[in-house]
Amino acid sequence: MDFSGNHILTIDQFDRGGVEALFNVADKMVPFANRDRITKVLDGAILGSMFFEASTRTRISFGSAFNLLGGSVRETTGFEHSAIAKGESLYDTARVLSGYSDVIVMRHPENGSVQEFSKASRVPVLNGGDGTNEHPSQALLDLYTIKNELAFRGRGIDRLRIAMVGDLKFGRTVHSLCKLLALFKDIRVVLVSPEELKMPANLVEYLREQDQVVIESDALEESISNVDIVYSTRIQEERFNSQEEADIYRGRFRLNQTIYTANCEPNTVIMHPLPRDSRENARELDEDLNDNPNLAIFRQTDNGILVRMALFALVLDVENEINSSARDTIWYTAGRSL
Ligand code: CP
Repeated sequence: MDFSGNHILTIDQFDRGGVEALFNVADKMVPFANRDRITKVLDGAILGSMFFEASTRTRISFGSAFNLLGGSVRETTGFEHSAIAKGESLYDTARVLSGYSDVIVMRHPENGSVQEFSKASRVPVLNGGDGTNEHPSQALLDLYTIKNELAFRGRGIDRLRIAMVGDLKFGRTVHSLCKLLALFKDIRVVLVSPEELKMPANLVEYLREQDQVVIESDALEESISNVDIVYSTRIQEERFNSQEEADIYRGRFRLNQTIYTANCEPNTVIMHPLPRDSRENARELDEDLNDNPNLAIFRQTDNGILVRMALFALVLDVENEINSSARDTIWYTAGRSL
């Protein structure tokens, strides 16, 4: 797989070698993410960050990752702050923005919109999430986290047993993660959702075509009893016609410490792409799990920096130059330990 100068739009672009190359570069980013070292390898480069949908993690971590490589970030958030609100097309926006930037990351509520934008862009475009379709960088950081969590337990990704729980119809992170897991061997995926929010049939079929085992269920407790990872997701209320419709499903599958202790194996890892919905009627991942050492949700968010730094380094072809402009930090650092 060739990253250099290419858009990153879908997990379909990745093969196993590409994933391993990305993760090797991500591992090299640890001293920079920990603030032990700084690098100026992207000094002078500009990231155009365009988020037309709400985001905390993806927007800030892509921006921070670019800053940590020495580059600058220019961003727009929400249609109302963009000339798209005046009727400008994605084509014109892409032609303009790609004249101001060296690379662009974009999130948009419509499926396929980032791909459409990329066709008119003169610089590489990274998909920060397009509608219900895909969220490739999230899947990559999820898999990087899975790799690290399993390595800690003396395991590799092959033969993974994972339960994906919640809104599997509209949750783009699980769509991308299914495609990514299909690259590995002997994966067993348990899909736990209400009937109306099942994983799209084409993705279930794709997993089975790759000889992976897929089980669909609407029962949480029995589905999480024999897995390495429970990957919980939020009801994607922004994809429903109304709050009332989302309320039908909100809170249907709640994982808390009592349910975890009663059903999960002792080392089962708990993941979630975040945000988790902590409102009373939701709580798909209860805050009483916060002290559970197997809760990996904030290791996921930290790993997002490493994986997004690696994506920029590979796409902009500086992965072998990171250390040539690096030095130790001289300010107080908080003692992170990724
Ligand atoms: N996981 C994720 O995409 O989070 P944000 O919506 O905050 O970017």
